[in-house]
Amino acid sequence: MSDSRTVFVAGGAGFIGLHVVNQLLERDWKVRIFDNMWRGDRDKANELAKTGNVEVIDQDIRSGAAVAAAMKGASHVIHLAADSINKSVADPYSSIDVNVVGSHNVFATAADQGIQRVVYASSASVYGDPEKLPMHEDDKLNPLTPYCITKRTGEDLLRYYERRAGLSWIALRFFNVYGPGQKTTAYYTSVINHFVNRLRNGEAPVIDGAGEQSMDFIHVKDIARAVVLATESEKANAAINVGTGIDTSVAQLARILIDAIGADVEPQFNPREVLVSRRAADTTRAKEMLGFEYSIPVGEGMTDLIRFEAAQDKK
Ligand SMILES: NC(=O)c1ccc[n+]([C@@H]2O[C@H](COP(=O)([O-])OP(=O)(O)OC[C@H]3O[C@@H](n4cnc5c(N)ncnc54)[C@H](O)[C@@H]3O)[C@@H](O)[C@H]2O)c1
Repeated sequence: MSDSRTVFVAGGAGFIGLHVVNQLLERDWKVRIFDNMWRGDRDKANELAKTGNVEVIDQDIRSGAAVAAAMKGASHVIHLAADSINKSVADPYSSIDVNVVGSHNVFATAADQGIQRVVYASSASVYGDPEKLPMHEDDKLNPLTPYCITKRTGEDLLRYYERRAGLSWIALRFFNVYGPGQKTTAYYTSVINHFVNRLRNGEAPVIDGAGEQSMDFIHVKDIARAVVLATESEKANAAINVGTGIDTSVAQLARILIDAIGADVEPQFNPREVLVSRRAADTTRAKEMLGFEYSIPVGEGMTDLIRFEAAQDKK
């Protein structure tokens, strides 16, 4: 495989990874998917390999030797591989191992091999519970779980290799990503799945408290576009939020999904004390540095997702 415009994509067979790889191929990149298939879709990755522009390497980022061998000759790196947030509280040892040791292998190797740009999947969860909305990149970080701590550590390691070896990097702080191909267990967005399942059974979505807790839902195709823009951007060396800037409350989400499914029900409210957390990205830096703005409004994205899932069920 030729060396110019070749991207090593760690975690490229995962939910976001497959969308990223598809968009890279549309822009004539050659791709090496490096994934241990823990949560990856091997069949879809192998399908992409048939284009002749994708190699699939079934290896683990915890092996520095495997990373070094597979990255040789690549020009760019996108690092999406991680232990999930759900697993991090139950098994912090594994989180630290994959997300810190593994990420370090990716970044140190990229610095050693003179990679032109590293794009890293960080997370809005590095902020913890925000003190104000929208959440700005320079706000205080307060990561609350091992997963969130590892994401901040990843950003710090990138800054270290920038100082030590001139590494060029962008850390994208993804907000609440949703869309076709997402695992039903996804932590923040599992509420979508829960509501959709109830609506499909003719049941009303049940909302705890007043449904005021909110998320900044961003469609996976918009996320993938931001990743490609960050890979190709002339600007670098910063953490950048990737969200819509809009906080959608759980009550609004229930209404959006009822309309998308066309169900004849009203949401039910389960009165109880709920810790209201809210999220919305400050999107100024993404626009200024990457020229990125979201393109898929949440109502349209959820309607598409429901159509996609209904089509999958019929297969
Ligand atoms: N989905 C979201 O809402 C969201 C939000 C913020 C940040 N992120 C981050 O974006 C990235 C991609 O998320 P996703 O939703 O596509 O998750 P995912 O689990 O679908 O994808 C991660 C991929 O990494 C692979 N992987 C895991 N451990 C590995 C290892 N040790 N070696 C090699 N490959 C390994 C998995 O097999 C999987 O294919 C992750 O880093 C995640 O933390 C996601």
